[in-house]
Amino acid sequence: DTRDPTSLRTPIVAVLGHVDHGKTSLLDKIRGSAVIEGEAGAITQHIGATAVPLDIISTIAGELVDPDDFDLPGLLFIDTPGHHSFTTLRSRGGALADIAILVVDVNDGFQPQTLEALDILRRSETPFIVAANKIDTVPGWNANEDSPINDTYEAQSDRVRGRLDESLYEIIGNLSDEGFSADLYWRVQNFQRNVGVVPVSAMTGEGVPDLLTVMMGLSQRYMKEEMEIDVAGPGVGTVLEVKEEKGFGTTVDTVLYDGTIRSDDRIVVGGQNEPIVTDVRALLQPRPLAEIRTESRFEKVDEVSAASGIKVAAPELADAMAGAPVRVVRDRDLDAVIDEVQAE
Ligand code: GTP
Ligand code: MG
Repeated sequence: DTRDPTSLRTPIVAVLGHVDHGKTSLLDKIRGSAVIEGEAGAITQHIGATAVPLDIISTIAGELVDPDDFDLPGLLFIDTPGHHSFTTLRSRGGALADIAILVVDVNDGFQPQTLEALDILRRSETPFIVAANKIDTVPGWNANEDSPINDTYEAQSDRVRGRLDESLYEIIGNLSDEGFSADLYWRVQNFQRNVGVVPVSAMTGEGVPDLLTVMMGLSQRYMKEEMEIDVAGPGVGTVLEVKEEKGFGTTVDTVLYDGTIRSDDRIVVGGQNEPIVTDVRALLQPRPLAEIRTESRFEKVDEVSAASGIKVAAPELADAMAGAPVRVVRDRDLDAVIDEVQAE
C-alpha cells in the first residue's frame, strides 16, 4: 500500500440525543482529560466542532488503543442541541456525519429527540453507537474515575450491576423496537450490522476509554476508504448555521469535509433563490479560551483543510441557507461549480 496517509481525513462524528442526556458533557470530559494530560493545546476548537487527534485518543483510552494500529488522524466531533426546536440543525449534523454517537441517559431512557435522532441516522444510513450515559447515577454506584467499563463494572456490588444491566437491556430493547439489532458493545462482532451500546459517565469518565476505542475502531475498519481525499483540492462543505457576526456581517459556519479552503478563494454557496457566488473575506476560528477576554472572539486563518469546522465571512451571504453546500471554485470552471451546487 503506497497511499499517502496524510490524505486520510478525520472522520466527522455527530453527537446526537435528547435534551440534557449529556452530549456536551461527554465532549467536555474528553477535552478535560486532554487538559489533565497536559495536552490542552493538542485539541483544537473549531466552529461547532472539536478535533481530537489520534495520540490524545490513545492517551485517554490507555491500553485499549495502540496508535500503531490506526492511520486515521483522529476524530472531529460535532455537538448538536437536543432541544426539540433544533430539528434542522440536528438533521444537518446527522446527515453530514460519517459516524455518530447517540447519547441516552440510562435513567431517562428513550425520549422524543432520541427517536428523532434515530430517524435521522436511519435515513442518512449513518453508522452509530449508543452511549448509555450517566451510569454514575445508578443508586449505590461506586465511581472509578476514567476507568474502562469492564474494571468499574467488576468493582460494583451485585445489586448495582443488576440495576445497570436492567437499564442497559431496556435501551437494547428500545433499539430493537425501532428495528436496530443492538447489544453491549463487547458482544458486537460486526458494527455495521449491530449497534454497540457503550455504558459511560460523562461525569466520572468511566467508559470513555471504551467509547473512544469503539469509535476509532469503527472508523478505521469501515470508513477508511471514504476518508481518502485530495487534501489540496478545492474545498467542499456544508453550512451548519448562518450567523451575523459583529464586524464581519453575515457569516456561514461551515463543516468542510473535502479539500482546502483559502482566505482568497472564490466560493459558491447554496442560497434561498439561487447559488451565491462570492469571494472569501476571512476564515475565522475561535480563539483559545484564555485570549477571548482581551481580543475579538475569532482569529483569522489563511487556509483550512478537511475535516474542519470554519466560519466563513464573505459579502452577499444574507440569502445563504443552513444545510446548503459550499464549494471552492479555484481553477475550476465557475458555471460547472454553480451547476454542482444547484444539483445538491
Ligand atoms: P442539550 O445540549 O441541552 O441537548 O443537553 P446535553 O445533552 O448537551 O446535556 P449536558 O451535557 O448539558 O448535560 C445536562 C446535565 O446532565 C448537566 O447538568 C450535566 O452535568 C448532567 N450530566 C451529563 N452527563 C452526566 C453524567 O454522566 N453523570 C451525571 N451525574 N450527570 C451528568
Ligand atoms: Mg449540549
